[in-house]
Amino acid sequence: MIFSPLDHRLTAGLAGLESEHRRRRPRTVQTIPSAHTRVAGREILNFASNNYLGLAEDSRVCRAAAEAAHLWGAGATGSRLMGGTLAFHEELETALAKLKERESALVFPSGYHANLGMIPALAGPDDTLFLDRLAHASLVDGARLSKARVRIFRHNDPDDLNRALCRVSGNGERWVITESVFSMDGDRAPLKDLVSVCQKRSARLYVDEAHGTGVWGSGGRGWVNEQGVADQVDVCMGTLSKAFGAQGGFVCGSSMLTQWAINRARAFIYSTALSPSAVGASLAALKIMQEEPDRRSRLFGLSAQLWAGLNLKGEGPIVPLTVGEDTQALSLSSALWEAGIFAPAVRFPTVPKGAARVRFSVTANHAAEDIDRVLWAVGKWGRLNGNTHIENKSSPSPASAPLAPQVPIALRWAAGGRDSVL
Ligand SMILES: Cc1ncc(COP(=O)(O)O)c(C=O)c1O
Repeated sequence: MIFSPLDHRLTAGLAGLESEHRRRRPRTVQTIPSAHTRVAGREILNFASNNYLGLAEDSRVCRAAAEAAHLWGAGATGSRLMGGTLAFHEELETALAKLKERESALVFPSGYHANLGMIPALAGPDDTLFLDRLAHASLVDGARLSKARVRIFRHNDPDDLNRALCRVSGNGERWVITESVFSMDGDRAPLKDLVSVCQKRSARLYVDEAHGTGVWGSGGRGWVNEQGVADQVDVCMGTLSKAFGAQGGFVCGSSMLTQWAINRARAFIYSTALSPSAVGASLAALKIMQEEPDRRSRLFGLSAQLWAGLNLKGEGPIVPLTVGEDTQALSLSSALWEAGIFAPAVRFPTVPKGAARVRFSVTANHAAEDIDRVLWAVGKWGRLNGNTHIENKSSPSPASAPLAPQVPIALRWAAGGRDSVL
């Protein structure tokens, strides 16, 4: 192997990350990433996906993706303004606007594109952005790209936001930017209070519903809609890559907003349009999420089992077990791995320093025994590491928590069992 000067620099950089326990190595998933899957040659319980409703493997969604490719082609063949806008995209946009009870929606190639495109389209150097301290990297990157002034307010703290807004005056616009359901904590923004602060201080509100859409609100409309503030949020962003089990992102709001985005959001303008298969899958997923509310009930039931078993307060499918130091999170994650559970350690810079954690992501296709298995493995790790706090969190015996799927994945596939268990 020949090492260029660049390779030398990168090798040193990676060694630095290694010494700080921050070097990332993806684990390769070898079958459909459903609740039970194969990772790195092992049958494993998957608590790493954002496939909350189990729709990524639903045969109706997969079939819709395949049919869309046959009907519309493998790719959209161009950016939206250069021949890539298909009637199919517009069908999805109409359906998303209806879901979110807004006038208009616009689809982006990913949720990351949506945030990276929208924030600089709406704010510039004269403006000020107020970001929740835990806002997702895509919101932070969008804010940086906008060149607007950035102020951070304390997580989910409308009073702190109010104070921050009072400190900034001038002619520019003020935008408050938050997630509705926080990706690494699973908690929800106090949207009614944020709306009232924004109204009092004449600020605009941008809400990222990546983890809210499909999971919260009737028919999966999202946390914004569940809180009854849909028409008071200026921009509601979402993704098709989590509860929808597909790929892509979107924003919704007034039709003026989407018209503006079409003209000014560079990540929309200068990237190839969303692939037809992702559009087809999203439309099928959207239909199922509205017609099968049992999926959400089941998801919330399983999530409640995990929250309670870990003795933590919270609701919904994102369950973080914060252990503090990076090394502890890595140790817990690898103990879980040994127990046949895939739940990654989340470290700085994804979460603040000293707040490293294992993030469990529950899906509607998990079973109660899968949750028992997690609780057993967490408790075992706590005992072995003298962490009584963690040890006390769990109880079930391994006997009640079978390690492997009852039927090998290949057999389930052959038997036509790719559909979710619901
Ligand atoms: C809060 C939040 N916003 C945006 C995104 C980006 O969405 P996508 O994965 O569709 O690019 C994510 C994905 O992790 C997210 O968690």
